[in-house]
Amino acid sequence: MSTARAMTATNGEAVTAYPKVRRIRFRFGDPQPMKHHFVEGDIPFSHLVAVLSAAFPPGEESFIRSVRRFADQVTDPVLKKRVAAFIGQESVHGQEHRRLNEKLIEMGYPFVRLFTFPHDSRRQRLVLRIENRAPALAHLAMTAAAEHYTATLAERVLSSDEIQAIAEDPEVRNLFNWHAVEELEHKSVAFDVYRAVGGPEWLRISVMAVMYFFTIPVVTVGVLLSIATDPRGWHPITVLRQTIGLFRGPLVKGLMADLRTYMRPGFHPDDIETDYLVERWRQELFGAEGALVGHLK
Ligand SMILES: [Fe+2]
Ligand SMILES: [Fe+2]
Repeated sequence: MSTARAMTATNGEAVTAYPKVRRIRFRFGDPQPMKHHFVEGDIPFSHLVAVLSAAFPPGEESFIRSVRRFADQVTDPVLKKRVAAFIGQESVHGQEHRRLNEKLIEMGYPFVRLFTFPHDSRRQRLVLRIENRAPALAHLAMTAAAEHYTATLAERVLSSDEIQAIAEDPEVRNLFNWHAVEELEHKSVAFDVYRAVGGPEWLRISVMAVMYFFTIPVVTVGVLLSIATDPRGWHPITVLRQTIGLFRGPLVKGLMADLRTYMRPGFHPDDIETDYLVERWRQELFGAEGALVGHLK
C-alpha cells in the first residue's frame, strides 16, 4: 500500500495520507561534542556519511527544480498535494544537512566545502546552466532514479539494527533517521509526476542505467578524496580494513542488486513495501513519546 493513500496505524489512528513537512532543528555537537570519526571511529564510513550529507543540499535543490518544471502540468489534486509536500520536505532536508555540513567543515572535513556554495556563486550558476540545457524529462527521470537510491538507503538505515548501533553520534543518527522516514514517505512522488506527464519507460530506465554505472566509482572517488584531505584519516591499513568492512556491511552489501530492480520495465517504487517502516518510525520519532518531538519547531 502506498504512503500516498490513506492508511491506518496499528493503534487504529489514521496516518496522514500525504508526506508530512516537519519543521525541525538539530543540535549537532550539543551538549555532547561530535567525535571526529563520528561513525564508531570508522574512517571511511564517517567520510561516506560526510560526502552524502555534503551532496544532499545541492542535489535536493536540483530535485525540487526538476519537479517544479512540470508542476503546472500536474492536474490530479492528490498528486499536486504530494508534490507540494515533496518540495517542502526536500527543502528542510537541505537546510538541516547544510547545518551538519558547516559543523563538519569546522571539524576538519574540507571536502564538504566543495559542495557548499552560495546561491549567487559562479558554481551555482554553472549548475543551473547545465541543468537548463538538459531536457526537462531527463532531469525529472534523474530525480526519480535518485529517489530510488535514497529510498533504498533509507530502508536499509531504518531496518538494520546494526546500522542503528554503529551510528554512534545521537544527533547525526536522529538527522538520518528523520531524513530516511521522509524519503520513504515521498519515494514515489517524482516517479508519479514523471508518469503523469508522459515520461517514457525507455528514458526512465536508460537514465538509471547511466547513473547505476557511475554511482560506485564516483562515490568511491569522493570518499577517497575526502579521506585524503583529512590528515586524521591517514592510516592506510586501518582505512583498507574498514573499507572492506564497509563494502561487506549492512549499508552497502547487495546495494547494487536492490538498485537494479528500478530498471525492470513496469517497476513502481510502491512495489517495495516500506509502509511498515514508516509507520514504526513515525511512532518512534514523532509519536506521543517520540524521540524527536522536542526537535520540532
Ligand atoms: Fe531528502
Ligand atoms: Fe527525496
